[in-house]
Amino acid sequence: MAGQPEDLWLFGYGSLIWKPPPDYDLRVPGYIEGYVRRFCQDHRGTPEAPGRVVTLIDRAVWETLTDQHATAPPKVWGAAYRIPAAHVAEVKVYLDIREINGYSIQYTPFTKDQDMSATYQTVHTSSASDEKVPGQISCLVYIGLPDNPQFLGPQEPQALAEHIVKSRGPSGENMDYLYQLEEALDGLSEGSGDEHVSDLARRCREIETRGR
Ligand code: BEZ
Repeated sequence: MAGQPEDLWLFGYGSLIWKPPPDYDLRVPGYIEGYVRRFCQDHRGTPEAPGRVVTLIDRAVWETLTDQHATAPPKVWGAAYRIPAAHVAEVKVYLDIREINGYSIQYTPFTKDQDMSATYQTVHTSSASDEKVPGQISCLVYIGLPDNPQFLGPQEPQALAEHIVKSRGPSGENMDYLYQLEEALDGLSEGSGDEHVSDLARRCREIETRGR
């Protein structure tokens, strides 16, 4: 009905996959299309050594950029969270504090994983069920647009890995963010891993091993 507050669907493709927002009542693994996930947002760590986090680049824009990771999967896997209408305002405030650092808001269609029986998760409610979730949902997603100051563009992978290994800050080790992302992506569904993320994680593990 017009004027009635509505539930919000929020898509997480980074830390939101394993660190959910407050007050969601349903988490659904799945994917969005038309974007490329890249570690090219300046975010964590100290001001002198800011770490790197993932952002999404519009695929048509990414295709005009020079990226040594020259291929990207057609689907960006992650998790969609349903925020009940009554909590939307407070969750937006929480996300503004926690996440907005040069990110912009877009809405994009999300497709739920077809084989989601094992990972479908409801919380705070006994009434949510699979049948109530449409196959496609319009989701809010945070994107680092190229014109924001924190957007760095594609990075040389080895230099990026070296940078991640030495960055840490109030939110923790930048490496841990990368390793947790790799693990969370691999756990979402069949084929939900992301070669850009796993290549960087492999490089970081090698750097760590060399340093010991
Ligand atoms: C995410 O986890 O999807 C995310 C977190 C912070 C900013 C943008 C995206």
